[in-house]
Amino acid sequence: MAQRLQITAAATDPALLDLPWSIPLEDWPADVLAALPRGISRHVVRFVRLSGRFLAVKEIGETVAHREYELLRALRRLGVPSVEPVGVITGRATPSGERLEAALITRHLQFSLPYRALFSQQLQPGTSARLVDALTVLLVRLHLTGFYWGDVSLSNTLFRRDAESFAAYLVDAETGDLHDALTPGQRAYDLDVARVNIIGELMDLEAGGLLEADVDPVEIGDRLVDRYSRLWDALTGIESFGAGDRWRVAERVDMLNELGFDVAELDIVTDVGGTTVSIQPKVVEAGHHARRLARLTGLSVEENQARRLLNDLDQFRAATDRQAEPEQRAARDWLDNVFEPTVHAVPEELRGKLEPAQMFHEMLDHRWFLSAEQQRDVPIHEAARSYVEHVLRKRPDEKRVLGVDTAALPRVALEPEV
Ligand SMILES: Nc1ncnc2c1ncn2[C@@H]1O[C@H](COP(=O)(O)OP(=O)(O)O)[C@@H](O)[C@H]1O
Ligand SMILES: [Mg+2]
Repeated sequence: MAQRLQITAAATDPALLDLPWSIPLEDWPADVLAALPRGISRHVVRFVRLSGRFLAVKEIGETVAHREYELLRALRRLGVPSVEPVGVITGRATPSGERLEAALITRHLQFSLPYRALFSQQLQPGTSARLVDALTVLLVRLHLTGFYWGDVSLSNTLFRRDAESFAAYLVDAETGDLHDALTPGQRAYDLDVARVNIIGELMDLEAGGLLEADVDPVEIGDRLVDRYSRLWDALTGIESFGAGDRWRVAERVDMLNELGFDVAELDIVTDVGGTTVSIQPKVVEAGHHARRLARLTGLSVEENQARRLLNDLDQFRAATDRQAEPEQRAARDWLDNVFEPTVHAVPEELRGKLEPAQMFHEMLDHRWFLSAEQQRDVPIHEAARSYVEHVLRKRPDEKRVLGVDTAALPRVALEPEV
């Protein structure tokens, strides 16, 4: 019996049909697969290269595949960091007519690392705390949009470097549910699951000798709960003050900006006599600095990378005495004369090691280090050269490839159906 494939996708790439759908994913030939770091999973998950991009394929029940696909689409629409769904394949069967499970296809998140891959590299102190801090922000953002995750864990999250920190992306939405708003009970439940899972995952690393020394998994689990509560309160709490203290409105907005959030809607209510004012943010959007940088330069980067780049831009304006000029014009010059030449000076073969904005961030660190060492202001292009030779060359490639030259993988020919 021939298989009758069905593709559900927003924009179907016909090359999807070239993949060997009549074979169980577990047995796909090595020449279609891309060797990328992969986290722990319940289902079979594999990476493939197709039409010049990398995709993740997960074998999963049909109903669940469609559900997860729709949830991921909704999350993308809501602007929450998650993997991008590409499509669902159903109707798979082997040549002998045996039915195969459906497949959910997502786009491989470039430069993302599963947490276990991070722990197998040389560790910076504080890595687990920084991962959990990133997951905290993600969880708060999900809850703000009404998304209940159900299975919050490090394994269901992907991490990208974001200056000194990490940015977390949701990868597994299978157990999730989208509501208008979550009840405190739903949020507490998700938070509890997160805490228990994270403690378990860190204990597992500890048992394997992979965790940093002096890290207590339970403390990190508690840190998540504590940070979550503080961020949630800062973003959603009601604040009241005397009518004369209006400056506190601006202060609240500044504080939220500093946390990386923009206030799209703020409720301001006075009591009947007008003596007290209460404010409560109603709609907040993450990415305050990233959005500002994008407006000025068109660069699309993570939030903390954006803070760093904006700082450098400020210094550029001060150093070139341009504060009186429109910010937009100085930003353009900074982009053309500082950022782009610096990252373009990195040899082609080293560019897959880190994202450009992350490289630039590390170059700034390196410049600071060189300047302190040599007691002079080292120019960025000089620092960049030194960084490439002494730091970047020694780093592992984080764009995608671990061990295999995936660019050289041949495409699979479409097998005629019988
Ligand atoms: N789009 C993607 N980009 C990068 N890695 C992915 C992607 N999709 C899945 N993975 C990797 O596969 C692992 C398992 O995926 P997941 O959806 O959690 O499967 P399961 O439902 O079986 O737990 C993830 O931890 C991640 O490392
Ligand atoms: Mg999972």
